[in-house]
Amino acid sequence: MNENLNPEIQDDEQVEELSLRPVSFAQYIGQDKVKEQLEIFIAAAKQREEALDHVLLFGPPGLGKTTMAFVIANELGVQVKQTSGPAIEKPGDLVAILNELAPGDVLFIDEIHRLPMTVEEVLYSAMEDFYIDIMIGSGDGSRSVHLDLPPFTLVGATTRAGMLSNPLRARFGISAHMEYYTTEDLETITKRTADIFEAEIVDEGAHEIALRSRGTPRIANRLLKRVRDFAQIRGNGKIDRPITDQALTMLDVDVEGLDYIDQKLLRTMIELYNGGPVGLGTLSVAIAEDVETVEDMYEPYLIQKGFIIRTKQGRRATAKAYEHLGYPVPEL
Ligand code: ADE
Repeated sequence: MNENLNPEIQDDEQVEELSLRPVSFAQYIGQDKVKEQLEIFIAAAKQREEALDHVLLFGPPGLGKTTMAFVIANELGVQVKQTSGPAIEKPGDLVAILNELAPGDVLFIDEIHRLPMTVEEVLYSAMEDFYIDIMIGSGDGSRSVHLDLPPFTLVGATTRAGMLSNPLRARFGISAHMEYYTTEDLETITKRTADIFEAEIVDEGAHEIALRSRGTPRIANRLLKRVRDFAQIRGNGKIDRPITDQALTMLDVDVEGLDYIDQKLLRTMIELYNGGPVGLGTLSVAIAEDVETVEDMYEPYLIQKGFIIRTKQGRRATAKAYEHLGYPVPEL
């Protein structure tokens, strides 16, 4: 059994996502570059009967980092233990988890950039040489205990490669950048999920959902569920283009896939700050979102789509942002 070491981190949506998740590379759509590399490294490790080198997955939320960790374990034919950076509060917590690993197992640590430093330091020797030395007791009675570990593979996921310390980053032999998905891949994922739901969907419906999902499977699957509800109540159950368009318009997801908060962010930049430059902290306060959420979830997509640019002085709204939201483009 794969084990989730802190079930409180799984909300209902994550639980439902689990059943939609592909379990093998053959089922996993998109991220072709990452898949191709991992397939080779996994095959080589299996042939040598060794644990796979540690893998760092980075990229924005919702792109399948957790799914990929489970696929890696499945392809290796080993068990996964799952936890997250903030859930491991002290070295003892980590020791308890490492103690449970069988040879070759995968330990998946989500949000690994949020590991406490005291824990991170214990992880170094565990990753590099498969042992830990921990101090037991305090003062004169304290002593160091040496514990050998089975070879294992740490799969770490982070939304921010930049926030990982250098010593930790250096201990990952494999590092993979998850990219936003193409419209074509999202269309395939949407159809696959609709199939699992036994919902009737036509290509144009799936295409429209794909176009408006910000390159993110988690969003495509979420929108699909809402469109399915809409089709069931306002239509005849079939997910076609007009029904999809009506449902997504009702949900304030515009034709570029921008949601209410994306739009609010851009409007705030334009109306309050003349299009910028404005600092991320200031902007986050102005739209009442926390900086991390803006930096991890909203900004990367807006940058990639060319609505925002990052400058030394702060963020700027582009002409494309003005045009998209119906403002006259200012003269430069
Ligand atoms: N569901 C969510 N992400 C997926 C992916 N990358 N491939 C297949 N199904 C998915």
